[in-house]
Amino acid sequence: MRTSGGGVLAFPHVTPFTAVVMAAGQGTRMRSSTPKVLHELCGRPMVAWPVLAAQEAGAQRVVVVTSPGVDLDGALPEGATTAVQPEPNGTGGAVEAAMPQVGADDVVVVLSGDVPLIASSAIHEVVAAHREARAAATVVTTELGDPAGYGRVVRTQDGTFDRIVETKREGDATSDELAIREINTGIYVFEASALQDALPQLTTNNAQQELYLPQALTVLKDRGVAVHQVDDPAVVLGVNDRVQLAEVRAIAQRRILEEHMRNGVTVVDPASTYVDATVTLGQDTRLEPQTALHGATTVGAGAHVGPQVTAVDSTIEDGATVRVAWLEQAHVGPRATVGPFAFLRPNAHLHEGAKAGTFVEIKNSEIGAGSKVPHLSYIGDATVGPGSNLGAATITANYDSKRKAKNRTTLGAGVKTGVDTTLVAPVTLHDRAYTAAGSVISEDVPEGALGIARERQQNIEGYADRP
Ligand code: UD1
Ligand code: CA
Repeated sequence: MRTSGGGVLAFPHVTPFTAVVMAAGQGTRMRSSTPKVLHELCGRPMVAWPVLAAQEAGAQRVVVVTSPGVDLDGALPEGATTAVQPEPNGTGGAVEAAMPQVGADDVVVVLSGDVPLIASSAIHEVVAAHREARAAATVVTTELGDPAGYGRVVRTQDGTFDRIVETKREGDATSDELAIREINTGIYVFEASALQDALPQLTTNNAQQELYLPQALTVLKDRGVAVHQVDDPAVVLGVNDRVQLAEVRAIAQRRILEEHMRNGVTVVDPASTYVDATVTLGQDTRLEPQTALHGATTVGAGAHVGPQVTAVDSTIEDGATVRVAWLEQAHVGPRATVGPFAFLRPNAHLHEGAKAGTFVEIKNSEIGAGSKVPHLSYIGDATVGPGSNLGAATITANYDSKRKAKNRTTLGAGVKTGVDTTLVAPVTLHDRAYTAAGSVISEDVPEGALGIARERQQNIEGYADRP
């Protein structure tokens, strides 16, 4: 069984809705040339998280609101579309920009691109609560010990919704209102028709001179506004700077690892293990400390990875062992072994039971089933057949620096190179060929032959006694 961070429709029976993810603005507190919502969080851009949560919860359409000139293509999961908010005139303006893509009878869920930990289950629940209340709008709230900076939920005497007051800038809230601990999470559900009616009524008559989306709730009060209070603080954990990004990352990472552990993966030290949301892991695989698995990496069942392994976009098959190694777009076949201290670069492919041992670098090469490259080797642009053994410090001289060209080295099955063999490509060692230790092999070695290419030894007698 394999597990991964998402992509499955978790609630097949939910009524479809349209999600609007507000993600415009640069996010100045990140102090970055990259827009805030494109910062990476466990292998995905931050904005992809709420989009995927919405899709998992059953969104039929997800519209991401972005600033002019910000290209979200490639950052968004399949199926999401974008809408450009011409100027950063507030959350009301953000939703307005998405409305041309919203159907007249849709249920609209509004999320924020910088609140990435919202769970699909939480979205599912608020949509259900909204339907049950038959409300025109539903706002998700929570109580915080420190509500500073959030919009406060003002209720009437009988406890029904009255309005939301903003507190980011002085002037919107009174000191009584500032004492309220129930805050607006920034997550809402609207009937599209109600939203359509309310948006043109928003004003900029407030401390930030922006269109506040929460004002739409005040406008819709007579048509029914429901309050859906939750007690999961993660739904509000927003990312405004890189300190908060690290806090959110730690929570997201913990969730990813826990899902894998529940599915049968041993994570010896979760605190020092980093697994992207995009990685798949097989059952009974064991991750040792200080291991980082990134991107499209997949690990099969019963594999042993770590300590100190970084794998990027790599495949590690069932029963393989990888210790103290760096892998990039590499492929480790079933029961193959790697490390300690190995570097597998793009298109290094170890077939079943093959070995890349200590201080070994392999690039763009096939290492045949059961073949071994045990010590101190550089193997580039080579094909090694099955059952071969490369002596310590066998090196491919694959680069012709004059022609700036890479040449291939081909080794057949059952080839044995002596220690310190240099293979000057292009060159072929046929099946069962041998090379003598210290040889510089620049010509092909026929099947079953021994290639010797070195100076004969000469002993100078009495050398030590010479004057
Ligand atoms: C907003 C709410 C506040 C709530 C808080 C919860 C308003 C006026 N206030 O405040 O009541 O407690 O969220 O986190 O809505 N965005 C745009 N275009 C804009 C402005 C913002 O797309 O013109 C996006 C941002 O990228 C962000 C989201 O909307 O993802 C929220 O905007 P932000 O400025 O962070 O609102 P808050 O001040 O946090
Ligand atoms: Ca915010």
